[in-house]
Amino acid sequence: MTHDGDRADLVVVGAGVAGLTAAIHAAELGLTVIVTTKGSRRTPGADTSTRYAQGGIAVVDPTDPADSIDVHLTDTLSAGAGHTDPLAARSILADGPDAVAALIAWGARFDAHADGMLRRTREGGHGVRRIIHAGGDATGAEVERALWEALRPHMVSGRVGVRAETMVIAVDTDLDGRAIGVTARDGTGRAVALRAPTVLLATGGIGQIYAATTNPEGSMGDGVALALRAGAAVADLEFVQFHPTMLHTPGARGRRTLISEAVRGEGARLVDADGVSITEGVHPLGDLAPRDVVAHAVHTAMVASGRDCMFLDARDVPDVAQRFPTVTAGVRAIGLDPAVDPIPVVPGAHYLCGGVATGDRGDTTVEGLFAAGEVARTGLHGANRLASNSLLEGLVMGRRVARAAADRAGTPITPTDVEMLTRAARCDRTTLQDAMSAGAGVTRDAAGLTAVADLVAAAKVRPLRSFSDVADAAATMVAGAVVAAALRRDESRGCHRRADRPLTDPVSRLEWARIDEPVGMRWDAADPVGSPVVA
Ligand code: SIN
Repeated sequence: MTHDGDRADLVVVGAGVAGLTAAIHAAELGLTVIVTTKGSRRTPGADTSTRYAQGGIAVVDPTDPADSIDVHLTDTLSAGAGHTDPLAARSILADGPDAVAALIAWGARFDAHADGMLRRTREGGHGVRRIIHAGGDATGAEVERALWEALRPHMVSGRVGVRAETMVIAVDTDLDGRAIGVTARDGTGRAVALRAPTVLLATGGIGQIYAATTNPEGSMGDGVALALRAGAAVADLEFVQFHPTMLHTPGARGRRTLISEAVRGEGARLVDADGVSITEGVHPLGDLAPRDVVAHAVHTAMVASGRDCMFLDARDVPDVAQRFPTVTAGVRAIGLDPAVDPIPVVPGAHYLCGGVATGDRGDTTVEGLFAAGEVARTGLHGANRLASNSLLEGLVMGRRVARAAADRAGTPITPTDVEMLTRAARCDRTTLQDAMSAGAGVTRDAAGLTAVADLVAAAKVRPLRSFSDVADAAATMVAGAVVAAALRRDESRGCHRRADRPLTDPVSRLEWARIDEPVGMRWDAADPVGSPVVA
């Protein structure tokens, strides 16, 4: 049974950078907002992907004659491997400086020189030093802190309500298919209906559908699954970005420590066990090539050598412990010291470049349903996200969604009986994660992808009794969609590398890059077990 919950102008699902930014701007515009998060009541943002972001925010320094929106766009397009939407990308990057200025006005403190100028670093694919950071390598933690601080007065005034320890089960739609809110379960298992004419999915990524990831536990693809069930188009799910330098911790499962690309930006080198460069001759930017190139180089070196990791040599990085405290703490936790020891690294599932297909205001193909942040596919990331473009995207798109919600405020909601989702197909979590890592990793082929598709197709419909069950159902659905997309794309491009289709298809590239065509996939709601249907 569903209890009547609250009404608001905007329901935000997720408490990372995009969701909180939308909530704050919406409150400033006079809207009422409900934010739902799976996070704990005491520290609701502590387990978001935003909180774990290290490197920073890529944003043009207006005082740098070597940088401009055009230069940032060129780097973004180059990383995106011919699949970026240039108009969407230009517009998001151009809004970046203002979005960062708003964040600073809300109280975010970035690392600065004595004269107050922000410090900037480089990461893979960036031609200039444009990435701002906080606490050395704790940028995301500072962003979350500042956003919660900025949200607090609106919570106190009652304009924003936060429902922690709450998991959204469904985006509810009326008889015309318009979003009218969500159905969620709270920590006691009670179902509650939250009603609003605008619903924002800001649920983060899917890294936890793999056995090894930099993502927090909650990144199980909930948002993509919610969108698919609501009938929204998704796109580019085959472009799962693997970070080249995740700390190698044999035997561990789930989230592992990220070794920020900024460590390479400050001079660390990727080497094999003999200290020989892995990326020399692979790309003109060497260790700072776009992320797909470097992750593939690390993977190739591991396969060729038969070793289970490669190494990041950060011993020549000045003051490495002060500059990278998060990385240093993670490395010390396995008994090594970055100032003394080469760091063992492996590629790890890190970021979903595709997601719920959106227009320039974050609008999806379902009226009233919006998506922002990692869950969304705006066209900015193409086939391979440029490092540190994502916090920027979350800030920009969060604000745009708030404005769209203001335009939609007052739209009547037709009360509709919604059927609770109580059963769904779901694989055993560990089996699914292992299958995804084996079959849909840095390189994939038809046989491996088909093995995952078969596993998903065989998943039994089972009751959804806990948050964990709901997350497993989402992960199963999303894994099926990722491998369907990867099977469909019979070429290699960006972070989608098919061992059995190594070439990039010049004809298809143009066709697939068209965003006015149905590049996405839809979920067939008539099929209770669910198999992805390519639109
Ligand atoms: C990093 O710090 O290397 C990650 C940055 C990102 O994923 O954008």
